[in-house]
Amino acid sequence: MSTDFYKKILDNNRIWSETKLKDDPEYFERLSKGQSPPLLWIGCSDSRVPANEVIGAQPGEVFVHRNIANMVIHSDMNMLSVLDYAVNVLKVKHVIVCGHYGCGGVKAAMGSDHIGLIDNWIRHIKDVYRLNSQELDAIEDETARFNAFVEINVKEQVTDLAKTSIVQNAWRNGQELCLHGWVYGLDTGIVKDLQVNFCGNEDLDKTDRLKF
Ligand code: CO
Repeated sequence: MSTDFYKKILDNNRIWSETKLKDDPEYFERLSKGQSPPLLWIGCSDSRVPANEVIGAQPGEVFVHRNIANMVIHSDMNMLSVLDYAVNVLKVKHVIVCGHYGCGGVKAAMGSDHIGLIDNWIRHIKDVYRLNSQELDAIEDETARFNAFVEINVKEQVTDLAKTSIVQNAWRNGQELCLHGWVYGLDTGIVKDLQVNFCGNEDLDKTDRLKF
């Protein structure tokens, strides 16, 4: 079964590349020359939220970073490197943090089960709950509380993105760059724009602003 699947994905690739070339014989040659995507996507690793597919983007249009529960951790060298390259080299104009309802990482942060190494990653999500516990604890319905937590987590990650030296520096240099927060519905395929937009240092709290 798994061997069949493995064989199938290799076949799929061959068919996909042939189809692309049939439409446009220079397709891959052109892509191989470089990229200038207007967007960095920071999403969850969940297999059901494929970045390109849900926004109808073609190869070359989205720079992507994904981790469990779409987190922006200030000391995560992987995320920071992606962000730095996207902002300073590719000069993306938008960064979207896209969470999703039903996120297993966020769900785990609402409980205390020991899963493994991931427990330590989940700690960061638990911090978000602690910071917003008054609002979240007041929601009695568990699903409603879970959905609200998913949304609050995305807002928190967008705010944390805005606090990075990379983003603040870009704004200081007059670079056009906006940060946005979305939540994707697994059961609808529809994105909800949380209307949490940061487009300049003036959108940040005074205490978070770096003095250059
Ligand atoms: Co998830």
